[in-house]
Amino acid sequence: MIHKISIEDIDVSGQKVFLRADFNVPLDQGKVRDDARIKAVLPTIDNLLGRGARLVLASHLGRPKGQPKEELKMDPVATRLTELLGRTVIKLDQVVGPVVNKAVADMKNGDLLLLENLRFEKGEESNEKAFAGKLAEPVDLFVNDAFGTAHRAHASTVGIASYIPAVAGLLMKKEIEELSRSIENPLRPLTVILGGAKVSDKINVMRHFLQLADYLLVGGGMANTFLAARGYDLGDSFYEKDMVEEAAKIIGESEKSSCRLVLPVDLVVTRELKPGSSFKTLEPEKIKHSWKAVDIGVKTVESFGECILNSAMIVWNGPLGVFEISPFDQGTMFTALKVAESEAYSVVGGGDLVAALEFLNLADDINFISTGGGATLEFWEGKELPGITVLQDKT
Ligand code: 3PG
Repeated sequence: MIHKISIEDIDVSGQKVFLRADFNVPLDQGKVRDDARIKAVLPTIDNLLGRGARLVLASHLGRPKGQPKEELKMDPVATRLTELLGRTVIKLDQVVGPVVNKAVADMKNGDLLLLENLRFEKGEESNEKAFAGKLAEPVDLFVNDAFGTAHRAHASTVGIASYIPAVAGLLMKKEIEELSRSIENPLRPLTVILGGAKVSDKINVMRHFLQLADYLLVGGGMANTFLAARGYDLGDSFYEKDMVEEAAKIIGESEKSSCRLVLPVDLVVTRELKPGSSFKTLEPEKIKHSWKAVDIGVKTVESFGECILNSAMIVWNGPLGVFEISPFDQGTMFTALKVAESEAYSVVGGGDLVAALEFLNLADDINFISTGGGATLEFWEGKELPGITVLQDKT
């Protein structure tokens, strides 16, 4: 396992700390719609403030590509943080420069402030050396708690570490521990559930887990590509034509591995993808022209359920149908209920599925929910994440 020095291993009293968080949260009419990523950093903020650090919080929000954008300012995050911490969080309109340097120099132990969106600056995503130097200028220590951005080699996740000591925050530490366990030392039987639209996003994760897991259950749009590779004509269903050959290779690889690849045996199909539209459940060979598969069917949920029931550990990424449009959320919902009810240790990786679990009120029944999307997938692929690599090793 990766062992990094964390804030728990060092004295932070009086230190000016650059705390990189991933506050890249969904907004709705100028307000934070889902604050899970903000809440996840609170233990690190409380720990550092409680031990007398001076905190400079920073994050990106959206993809403004080096240009200030009114709708991507950090103000909604400052408002939500203020509510969650029960104290005013001052937000600066700058990321670097004299105003920031002066504000940080004037801070006292236990103070905190939030910088403007890091990606308003061109040097952030290009990991420009001079910009990273400016980020480091007013502070003494870099704490990275932005696991969700650890797969990006940007100035605030990588460049800054060449100027000041770099350690992990509590969230980063927990993410590394939990996600490592699921790939290095999993409880067995290990079931991996993969969903979402595209095989192309998850091909490396699939290959990695084929070598590791006992069951690999595939649903969502990506399952259609596998069914196409098996020779089914799925009518008007979405699938990735250019990935059919790759999917066929994976099926071949699964036959040689000890992992059982489980594909849908029935699918919910509709003519129109809109709320409340009529649907039926069919075996893949019965799907006709003008119908499209939008969810896994009851028999598939049952077969997934048998694997889940038989598992000691479950790793899940991606919804199993078009869950945001009811009634095509049923496959994801019933599978989530089975995971929540099972005795198995469950780890869920970021993005759409987390929103689905929260919507279903099942998030508390999952043992660990990663705050990463792309970062979690890359971690599960076994890739080195640059934002973790630069943190000081524990020897
Ligand atoms: C995420 O939401 O996955 C992270 O915040 C990274 O965002 P990005 O994909 O825009 O780099």
